[in-house]
Amino acid sequence: MINSLSEFKHAAKQAIENPESFWNDIANEFQWISPWKQTLAFDFSTPEIKWFVGGKLNITENCLDRHLATQPNKTAILFEPNDPTEEAQHITYKELHSRVCQTANMLKANGAKKGDRICIYMPMVPELAIAVLACARIGAIHSVVFAGFSATALAARINDASCTMLLTADGGFRGAKTIGLKDIADEALQSCTTVESCIVFQRTNKQVNWNPIDRWWHEEIEKVDDHCPAEVMDSEDPLFILYTSGSTGKPKGMVHSCGGYMVYTAYTFQNVFQYQSNDVYWCTADIGWITGHSYIVYGPLANGATTVMFEGVPSYPDFDRFWEVCAKHKITHFYTAPTAIRALQKHPTALIDKHDLSSLKVLGSVGEPINAEAWHWYDAHVGKHNCPIVDTWWQTETGGILITSLAGVTPQKPTFATLPMPGIQAVLLNNEGDEIEGEGEGILAIKHPWPSIARTIWGDHERYKNVYFSAYPGYYFPGDGALRDAEGNFRITGRVDDVVIVSGHNLGTAPIENAINQHAEVVESAVVGFPHDIKGNALCAYVIVKDISIDKTLIEKEIREEVAKTIGPIAKPDRILVVSGLPKTRSGKIMRRILRKLAAGDDNNLGDISTLLNPEVVDEIRRQNS
Ligand code: WT7
Repeated sequence: MINSLSEFKHAAKQAIENPESFWNDIANEFQWISPWKQTLAFDFSTPEIKWFVGGKLNITENCLDRHLATQPNKTAILFEPNDPTEEAQHITYKELHSRVCQTANMLKANGAKKGDRICIYMPMVPELAIAVLACARIGAIHSVVFAGFSATALAARINDASCTMLLTADGGFRGAKTIGLKDIADEALQSCTTVESCIVFQRTNKQVNWNPIDRWWHEEIEKVDDHCPAEVMDSEDPLFILYTSGSTGKPKGMVHSCGGYMVYTAYTFQNVFQYQSNDVYWCTADIGWITGHSYIVYGPLANGATTVMFEGVPSYPDFDRFWEVCAKHKITHFYTAPTAIRALQKHPTALIDKHDLSSLKVLGSVGEPINAEAWHWYDAHVGKHNCPIVDTWWQTETGGILITSLAGVTPQKPTFATLPMPGIQAVLLNNEGDEIEGEGEGILAIKHPWPSIARTIWGDHERYKNVYFSAYPGYYFPGDGALRDAEGNFRITGRVDDVVIVSGHNLGTAPIENAINQHAEVVESAVVGFPHDIKGNALCAYVIVKDISIDKTLIEKEIREEVAKTIGPIAKPDRILVVSGLPKTRSGKIMRRILRKLAAGDDNNLGDISTLLNPEVVDEIRRQNS
């Protein structure tokens, strides 16, 4: 573990001078079934990236078996249910190992084998983490789909990866609501042909429909024992697929490998959070997102940590739930999203002060830029000016944290993610693709591979190449802009592509437009992001309809329903403007830059609009806005 600023500087220097020996030393701390023959093989032009080539391992041996000798009775997963009156569960490493092995056998007994894709559509219960690890145990590739996604979105993801099995639940609790996951899954499966078996975990005990391929989890698990040797995996075998949105309608199934992903998530977990052996670490994300994969499940367990899984929401039963849970479980590390911080900031600080937060040592932020106000509120009211805040910049594609401070070890700076991790060669590029030296602002890019970079897009390597490696040859291009101060600290300024981060969720505007266009009355639409107090960004949809005299309230409602049905409620636009046209260039391209400015209310600053095909629509939109 990096313990001081000088150790950090030393590691960063070593990692640049000799990346292979740097990562070799780190990878050697893990349990490998057989060693690798080559540390790194890469070519960004194809692109091909391989780490620890020829090495054999199973990540679950590193997350579970390895800890049995040293700390079998330590809590691995601490589960806090949605309902505060339901008892929390403390699952020890020994018990987790046993349950993962038994679940792995249940998957095998139902036909799963190495290399199969298994879709997991479950609420935040321990069985979700167990399912993920059980897949890894047998070498099946898990594809977790966030339980807030719609049937259409779920079906698209199942079909894209030709999943043969679905793990779901009768339902899930979220605050005062119950989500009928099985019903949604049933609807999805009507348009899926590859799924041969569906195992249903019982959580809500609500009545569900039953199909010939359905089996109850609690019945199937009784039929198998808990002895399950770990499948021998190649370092480069896929560990999982996780979908993220892109600038076309189709989600991108990012593929992560076994070896490199394990090494990098474990390394970053330890160093960024400075986890000590009796700490209780809580990341509030959902396992349906990469944050949950890397920093609820794999990173913490690889380090033998106690990781908290929270089923509920910050507002239930009241807006002090986070603080109540922190006090109840004596949380030491609290890692959440700026959108949650901003939402909680609106409530009286008395809600915090009624709980004893003195156990907290480290705070974290992830998912979008954290604004100064939220940062200072977090620091003062949650951290009591006594906890370092790590602002961690990374992506589904990067697998682990790339730019951050190390808690209490490297300097923090409000609104700055600060410095790249050792081994991460972050640069700023200008529009021509030349590197900017020193202070400046530009496009963020990464020069050299790190172990947990996604290896491909499932079924579409060409798209992987085009999206991430073609705009600036020789670099990985994440799609974010950044600025850098004189000390080398990075501040992420936001997306430079057609992705909008809403409440920390990565949403492509194209799939939302596709959903809106499905409405029979809609001719064309354009969706852009605009700044929002709590969500960071919100969505504004400009919609052209066939008949301008249509009932606007009704169509707005129908459009929101269409989007919720096709993608999920998180993608519903905040504002919908029915317009007679969209500003277009003479070649017919929608001028999104203008739409973004109009949505932001920044309409004195539109630049030259005289070259537009239809400048008059700009005034029309202005009038609607005011
Ligand atoms: C995009 C990736 C990182 C896991 C959760 C989101 C934005 C993420 C930060 C941060 C500023 C951030 C970027 C990035 N983002 N963390 N600390 N500061 N922006 O993963 O859904 O793949 O989204 O989230 O724009 O590209 P994701």
